[in-house]
Amino acid sequence: MIETKPRPPVIKSVIVVGASSGLGKAVAEQLATQGTTVFALARHIEDTTMPPGVVKITCNIRDLESIDATFSKIDQQTGQIDALINCAGRGLVKPFEDVTRDEIMDVLGINLKGNIYMALEAYKRMLPFKAGQIVNVGSTSSLKARELETIYCASKWGLRGFTESLRLAAQPHGIRVIGVYPGGMKSDHFWQVVPGKDLSGYLEPTLVAKQLIQVLQSDLSLAPAELVLERGQN
Ligand SMILES: NC(=O)c1ccc[n+]([C@@H]2O[C@H](COP(=O)([O-])OP(=O)(O)OC[C@H]3O[C@@H](n4cnc5c(N)ncnc54)[C@H](OP(=O)(O)O)[C@@H]3O)[C@@H](O)[C@H]2O)c1
Repeated sequence: MIETKPRPPVIKSVIVVGASSGLGKAVAEQLATQGTTVFALARHIEDTTMPPGVVKITCNIRDLESIDATFSKIDQQTGQIDALINCAGRGLVKPFEDVTRDEIMDVLGINLKGNIYMALEAYKRMLPFKAGQIVNVGSTSSLKARELETIYCASKWGLRGFTESLRLAAQPHGIRVIGVYPGGMKSDHFWQVVPGKDLSGYLEPTLVAKQLIQVLQSDLSLAPAELVLERGQN
């Protein structure tokens, strides 16, 4: 039997996008507690409590100038990005006929284009090192059609197509790309779009964050492609 040496990934410097709330905040906090240098990005990150040492950077992923300014700041502080965790997203739940053009622009602009722009900048910086990981957070709405989520599903199915294609493109360059697809999570911020929604049966973002980090830290001889997390037993 041929024995392969363990190849744990280096995870010293990580960008977490959408770190002001919900899943992204939980990922940023857990990684920072483990000693990772975390660049925590969101539009309202300055108002967000974070463990000491986390580098907060105000960033709007719908705005290319803001993305460029963010990467300039990161480039000044680290020579190598070990992982990008794309957690920024927004929900939209309403009949298709009530959807506005601005909502279409915003949902696709954040959930699809914004995440792609972030991945592109991180990928270009990872290529010379032939190392790095990109995690894109979709949803079970990346896998299932939902009648009140036409635009959200479009953004999340699109993100999954991007993620799977980038995974193939990145693999020969030593870069690992992983799609994470959670079911409903307990995030009041995310579910503001459905006032009064009962979140009691939903997943804890902290638990999803723990699973995501486990996959991120898994041996590089593994190629985890898709992590689907739905609610199990109580
Ligand atoms: N909650 C759920 O039930 C659920 C289920 C499955 C998948 N998801 C997906 O999981 C991811 C995280 O969701 P969540 O529940 O943690 O949502 P959340 O609590 O609303 O957090 C979303 C994060 O995205 C950031 N964000 C939104 N627009 C942004 C922009 N233009 N530029 C930069 N950051 C932006 C928000 O920060 P700022 O507002 O400060 O910018 C916030 O930090 C999303 O992709 C979501 O689609 C959520």
